[in-house]
Formats: sequence, structure tokens, C-alpha cells
Amino acid sequence: MKTILKITLVSAFVSLIISSCGSSGSGEMVANLENGKVIYNKACIACHWKGVAGAAALEDKPRWEEIAAKGMTVLLEHSIKGYTGKFGVMPEKGTCLDCSEQDMYDAISFMMGEAGVTASK
Ligand code: HEC
Repeated sequence: MKTILKITLVSAFVSLIISSCGSSGSGEMVANLENGKVIYNKACIACHWKGVAGAAALEDKPRWEEIAAKGMTVLLEHSIKGYTGKFGVMPEKGTCLDCSEQDMYDAISFMMGEAGVTASK
């Protein structure tokens, strides 16, 4: 009985650690492209569809390749906090202030999919 109790406690502890990892940082995040499309259409499309105000247009694959090379961790941070680069100003959360970290992750992943690139973590 004691051993079984120990095993139960250990596995409960391990699953606690695993589940808490999922919500912190982009390492364990999984993109929901359906949601990404909704967020994109709501907030990102104004600048990123055709490349308004210095934003990378979806059809500009070479530029998205450069962006993707930064890795999702950096891109998530830049899009949440806002980012000023050599092309212009990416506003905080792309103006979608009620968007969650997951929403931003999904929207970035959706745009990369449309541009035909994939990012590393
Ligand atoms: C008001 C215009 C505008 C809106 C709206 C906008 N962006 Fe941007 N975004 C920019 C500009 C400009 C840049 C390029 C900054 C640079 O590289 O000079 C950019 C860059 C980015 C980058 C690349 C950052 C990097 O480090 O190179 C990502 C990712 C991004 N935007 C995601 C989003 C997402 C997701 C949304 C919608 C939730 C969004 N943007 C909405 C203007 C916008």
C-alpha cells in the first residue's frame, strides 16, 4: 500500500510540473490556427495583409523568413510588448489589447502559415 501511495503522489507531482510548464513561455505552446485566423482578421490584417505602415505583408515570404529565423520565443515577446524595428512600429499586442498570449501565438503561427514559413521555438 505504501508503495502505491508513493507512486500516486509522484505521478501527481510530475503531471503538475508538466501542466504548469504548458502555460509559461512558448516552449510547450501549440498553435490553434482556427483561432489564429480569427485574431488575424480582427487585429493584424489592417497592417499585415498588404504590408501597411512597415509591417510584413503575408505575400512577402523573404521577409517572413527573416522574421521566422528569430524564433517564436522572441516573436511572441515582441508582439506582446510591442517592437520597433527598421521598418516601423509593431504596436503592443498588435492593438488587440484583450488578446491572450495564446491568441498572439496563434495569430503569429497563422500568418507564418499563410506566408509559407515555419519558425523555430
Ligand atoms: C498598426 C500596424 C500593425 C498591426 C495592427 C499589427 N502589426 Fe505586427 N508589425 C507591425 C510593423 C510595422 C512591424 C515591423 C517592425 C519592424 O521590423 O520594423 C510588425 C512586426 C510584427 C512581427 C515581427 C516582429 C519581429 O521581431 O520581427 C510579428 C510577429 C507581428 N508583427 C505580429 C503581429 C500580430 C500577431 C498582430 C495582430 C495581433 C499584429 N502584428 C498587428 C505593425 C503592425
